[in-house]
Amino acid sequence: MIDATRYRRRRERLAGLMGRGLAVLSTAPERIRNRDAHYPFRFDSYFHYLCGFTEPEAVLVIVAGETTRSILFCRDKDLEREIWDGFRFGPDAAKAAFGLDEAYRIAELDQHLPQLLADQPTLFCDVGENGEWDGRLIQWLNAVRAQVRTGISAPGEIRDVRKLLDEMRLIKDEAELDTMRRAAIISARAHRRAMQATRPGRYEYEIEAELLHEFRAAGAQAPAYTPIVAGGANACVLHYVANDARLSESDLLLIDAGCELDGYASDITRTFPVQGRFLGPQREIYELVLAAQAAAIAQVQPGKLWQDPHDAAVRVLVQGFIDLGLCHGSVESVIESGDYRRFYMHRTGHWLGMDVHDCGDYKRDGQWRALEPGMVLTVEPGCYIRPGDGVPERFWNIGVRIEDDAVVTLKGCEIITAQAPKAIADIEALMRA
Ligand code: GLY
Ligand code: MN
Ligand code: MN
Repeated sequence: MIDATRYRRRRERLAGLMGRGLAVLSTAPERIRNRDAHYPFRFDSYFHYLCGFTEPEAVLVIVAGETTRSILFCRDKDLEREIWDGFRFGPDAAKAAFGLDEAYRIAELDQHLPQLLADQPTLFCDVGENGEWDGRLIQWLNAVRAQVRTGISAPGEIRDVRKLLDEMRLIKDEAELDTMRRAAIISARAHRRAMQATRPGRYEYEIEAELLHEFRAAGAQAPAYTPIVAGGANACVLHYVANDARLSESDLLLIDAGCELDGYASDITRTFPVQGRFLGPQREIYELVLAAQAAAIAQVQPGKLWQDPHDAAVRVLVQGFIDLGLCHGSVESVIESGDYRRFYMHRTGHWLGMDVHDCGDYKRDGQWRALEPGMVLTVEPGCYIRPGDGVPERFWNIGVRIEDDAVVTLKGCEIITAQAPKAIADIEALMRA
């Protein structure tokens, strides 16, 4: 059931922020993979956030002023094409189902847009996102400018609509949180399934298949990003996606995988031993990363700054690196010199939402921003040890990351991915079972 009211409320809120002007947002283009085969279509997140419409070839226009008017341009109803491609709403049904004020055929865009832009002070758009689309916006602006001698004025200002939408999307409402919790539960279940399916001699892609099975079987539309299933040394390649190596007895397996459900991403990383028991050095590094994650999670509270979880994780990791002989000196000096980045080279998290690396500024006026209830972020410290001079050999090729998704609440945070085990005893028990 489409909750048209929810989208209408968002459009009205955006219109309030715009003041007066016209917002024009296109959904994502369809992309060819090779010859007649397309990549799976995924709508544009901003567009979808404002109207919930999932078909390709659609444009949303919001007229802000004394009253708000929302207009959808979409593919025409076409019974012949529907035999090949399936159902499409067509403007009339889309208008009713999605609570829009007007809807027209996408083929009429060039005819309507110059009229809609006439006498508007500002065009709000996502200029720079897609060159072809930018060209069309410019054509429509020029079409209005060509009429100035008739007394029509063209927008004097172009503003980035994403600046307004990013702030709206950053704070999730209850319906969004509900979807994100469900996505997280499906992904956690997939990680449990992967742990139970892992054993020496299997291939990374076989474990990837277990994850994908669980995503789709639970109704998730797609992975939110290409899963990383990285055994042994592959775990030290941060964006490893080949997923084609054989798992050996002494390997750890790092899996970074999350599903997308109804437009919302989840993002979980777990690391566990292929044969079901953490060996000495693996255990030492794992316990360290887990402790760093706990320290970071303790900082996820309203009023704390974006940077606080990262700083907390780094302090714990650096102390551990010194204790294990990976870094030398005091905690302060290793942080100051950045020497720890040989083993921990990424940040501790990112916003999460419709996009896995979701929108929203991390700083405001040059300062890290404060966390607020309704924000969702990942907490994902790690440690990646490549063979190298001065690196104790027993740690070589160990790569560990532990990643959970946290909702900032009134008092602290809610870890919505908690159903994926991460305590050593829980992982070992699950793999034994
Ligand atoms: N899976 C992408 C990330 O963890 O940032
Ligand atoms: Mn992440
Ligand atoms: Mn991840």
